[in-house]
Amino acid sequence: MNILVTGGAGFIGSCFIRQMLNNHPDYKIINLDCLTYCGNLSNLNDIKDNKNYTFVHGNICDKKLVRELISQVNCVVNFAAESHVDNSIRNPEIFIETNVKGTLNLLQACKEIGIERYLQVSTDEVYGTLGKTGYFIESTPLAPNSPYSASKASADLLARAYFETYKLPILITRCSNNYGPYQYPEKLIPFFISKLLKDEKVPVYGDGMNIRDWLYVYDHTKAIDIVLHNGKIGEVYNIGGHNEKTNLEITRLILNAMGKDDSYINFVEDRLGHDKRYAISNDKIQNELNWKPTVTFEEGIKLTINWYLNNQDWIKSIEDKKASLV
Ligand SMILES: NC(=O)c1ccc[n+]([C@@H]2O[C@H](COP(=O)([O-])OP(=O)(O)OC[C@H]3O[C@@H](n4cnc5c(N)ncnc54)[C@H](O)[C@@H]3O)[C@@H](O)[C@H]2O)c1
Repeated sequence: MNILVTGGAGFIGSCFIRQMLNNHPDYKIINLDCLTYCGNLSNLNDIKDNKNYTFVHGNICDKKLVRELISQVNCVVNFAAESHVDNSIRNPEIFIETNVKGTLNLLQACKEIGIERYLQVSTDEVYGTLGKTGYFIESTPLAPNSPYSASKASADLLARAYFETYKLPILITRCSNNYGPYQYPEKLIPFFISKLLKDEKVPVYGDGMNIRDWLYVYDHTKAIDIVLHNGKIGEVYNIGGHNEKTNLEITRLILNAMGKDDSYINFVEDRLGHDKRYAISNDKIQNELNWKPTVTFEEGIKLTINWYLNNQDWIKSIEDKKASLV
């Protein structure tokens, strides 16, 4: 396979590229990334010289470049996105630009040039929120509540439309919250660790009772590998860890691991439109494609916290870059 991976300098895309180069040494990967504030080439330092890996600095909205690159590959995996809900509440436009128009540009180029498989990396947030019970399944109606999730749902629906209208061979994956190394420290787990490293309090939204399902990033990218190879064209696959935790539980786990107590919690005003509960059924991908998570939450969270503690230079370099932009 020759694969165009978009957004490969981000958290999940970099894990996917590393895993694919390790597991499929004959595959060639082009990583197209425009390096927004959260794109970071140092996430891929260990594989940057691999002869099967090429980095291209560019935007998925660039029509000419995208066509040039798609003509060199037979598969596309689209990770590129604006991914932070809080930013989407403050500034929705860029989410429509990248997540919707960028995806449309990729789909249209694939249709014009021809492709064997196009995989759209989506999120469980497109389903909206759940009550106390039940799970999102693939046929749950989409009901996004934030500009971020609305933009991701739009991208999903465009991918679906290109399959229905033009028979473009698309696949869609919808995953729950990921955690692991190299996640930009604006997201809950690395953000809280970076605050505690500076001996600062951590801001917990509302009463901290919002529930998310957490999956170790490596298990997500493994699932994408499996869907890319064996998924049925035109289908959606949910990916989840069955690890439902309240934000407060996650916070206390981190506090504990870092030798801090509840006095480091600062409850702040809730996020606008904050979804109460996400929980995802992964029965379909387990039964049809034989995927299941391999890293337990207890193992994964330990690995993750240790990684950030052992890689404080990585966090510091991001904070220095942020400070230099202010
Ligand atoms: N993080 C999660 O928990 C999670 C869960 C489910 C799905 N997802 C989805 O997975 C994908 C990757 O998420 P992530 O957490 O790695 O995000 P991230 O923010 O860490 O990485 C996104 C990457 O995309 C790049 N990018 C952004 N706009 C671009 C553009 N216009 N052209 C080219 N590159 C661009 C950025 O530079 C960055 O490298 C996203 O599509 C996201 O919606 C994330």
